[in-house]
Amino acid sequence: MCGIVAAITNGLDARASVLHGLKTLEYRGYDSAGMAVHTGDSKLAVRRKMGKIANLEAELASNALPESDQVIAHTRWATHGAPADRNAHPHTDDGGEIVVVHNGIIENYLDLRAELVADGHVFLSDTDTEVLANLIARHMRNGNGGIDLHTAVRTALTEVHGAYALVAMCATEPGTLVVARQDSPLIVGVGDAAHYAASDMPALLHLTRDFVALENGESAILHADKMQLCSASGDWIERETTLCDWTPEQAEKGGYPHFMLKEIEEQPDVLARTAFDRFHDTEGDVVFEDTFTLTDADLRALRRIRFMAMGTSSHSAMIGRWLLAEFAELPGETLNASEFLYSPILPENDTLTVIVSQSGETADSLRAMRELQKRGGRILGICNVQGSTLAREADDLILTHCGPEVGVASTKAFFGQVTALYLLAIRVGRARGVLSTERGLELLHDLRTLRPKLDSLFAPEAMAAVRQAAAFLATVPSCLFLGRGLQHPIALEGALKLKEISYIHAEGYPAGEMKHGPIALIDEHFPVVVLATPDRTYEKMISNIEEVRARSGKVIAVGVAGDQQVQNAADYFLPVPEVPPYLAPLVNVIPLQQLSYEVALALGRDIDQPRNLAKSVTVE
Ligand code: AGP
Repeated sequence: MCGIVAAITNGLDARASVLHGLKTLEYRGYDSAGMAVHTGDSKLAVRRKMGKIANLEAELASNALPESDQVIAHTRWATHGAPADRNAHPHTDDGGEIVVVHNGIIENYLDLRAELVADGHVFLSDTDTEVLANLIARHMRNGNGGIDLHTAVRTALTEVHGAYALVAMCATEPGTLVVARQDSPLIVGVGDAAHYAASDMPALLHLTRDFVALENGESAILHADKMQLCSASGDWIERETTLCDWTPEQAEKGGYPHFMLKEIEEQPDVLARTAFDRFHDTEGDVVFEDTFTLTDADLRALRRIRFMAMGTSSHSAMIGRWLLAEFAELPGETLNASEFLYSPILPENDTLTVIVSQSGETADSLRAMRELQKRGGRILGICNVQGSTLAREADDLILTHCGPEVGVASTKAFFGQVTALYLLAIRVGRARGVLSTERGLELLHDLRTLRPKLDSLFAPEAMAAVRQAAAFLATVPSCLFLGRGLQHPIALEGALKLKEISYIHAEGYPAGEMKHGPIALIDEHFPVVVLATPDRTYEKMISNIEEVRARSGKVIAVGVAGDQQVQNAADYFLPVPEVPPYLAPLVNVIPLQQLSYEVALALGRDIDQPRNLAKSVTVE
């Protein structure tokens, strides 16, 4: 939530490249945007605008900032203070000497603000960030000229409770940016005679692929030609850069009208990238990289597995729990990470916790991870972002290879997570002796042959069927998604996709639950989306369809192409290829993603940046 980009170069004007990076980060928040530059004559200049980055661009076109080799910028997801020009970042102190961009929440900002007001400071915004700028300025002034920006930032941060990633710049200290983080993400990009900072790697891929991730409590001084990294305890430390394997093109739309559509269509490649290189084609097993250190003995010793995640990732976690039970005979549970902290559950020594997160920066999931680690629990992270907090702090890691996901609605990341969970189930099943080599080989074969089967989901006939259903769905205020067994998480995911990008109310239910309440909603105007592909729940799903029809409800059914029974019973039929039932989630989710996309398109919604949302939820 909130995106930060900053650059310091050796004389090169950095305004355009910072703005480019900021646009790449717009998925992190779009309530307002702003930019500040050091003008080189001991002055700062700031432009800020409510709304999307396009508004800031228009402002910069009519009221340009001076060229500068020291630029910071921000795109905001509002927490403290409504979206408004005056609450947009960057924020300066009341003397205009310090300027700050910040992502996070300063929890004690009201107390700090009262203290600063008593000291004579004047505030112009409702934000917690303006408090930070004034706090830093106060320390610099109190230092009688002896305190530099970095020391002032570090001192100010000792008074602050909460989460932050920040970049600060000082009018009287040219050639320096100071960055710091606690519980909000911040990475430093190392360029050719330049240093950069950002909330996420995609913002800097057009400038560098060499990164250093800051750990909690760390800060750094950035100059064009060097970076000085400071530990939480104040020692200067060295850290090697990590090379990011994402390309700048992956973070661009590449001719698609929306990132979401591009990302939906990338899913067959995600299957290949996440799975195929990990197959052990003679052993019927999976080989993970050395970030996965769980040995066969560790896996055999497990008695339970716990999955924790938020949002879409929690739907893949539900599938993971099912797969581990099915293929590794390892019972488990799925918990909402934000609820975990309030639950009385304690980790047992023989329990593994799997945290699933696209970004690796979701505050609820990270908090749950750290709490469990404190209690001695072992964490396996499943994550798409190399170098993210989850990727660094989890005890073991499986990276999904989806490439950067930019659309706020998660699509290919879900696909990558479920793929990784199949691999995990096979690995654990083989280690525990539940799966034979032959069965392992069959499962790998099923995954490998899935890829060409996915093509039919993007064929013109399939898309026409989705568009027809979408044209109807776009006219309703509310609908249900029903699935049983492995299809229940897909029903939840379909409903989440629809509500988040079309703003149509949608609920996902286990289909068996329909008769226990939701059936009261059904009349001739009410649509029910059902997942009715062949598995052990098929007959019961057919009964559910009939129950909806008996009450004149409208049925949109996902079924196997050629299944006349489902097709004849449905008002709208979304055909999918036949696959082994355990792989159906990977197939059935795609028409539901397409359906949401087409509904949102028909309604003229802001598909990649739906209202009120941000891609990476870095506050609890
Ligand atoms: C889904 O479309 C959303 N973007 C959201 O539910 C997301 O999955 C959730 O915030 C978790 O994010 P993470 O995977 O980055 O942890």
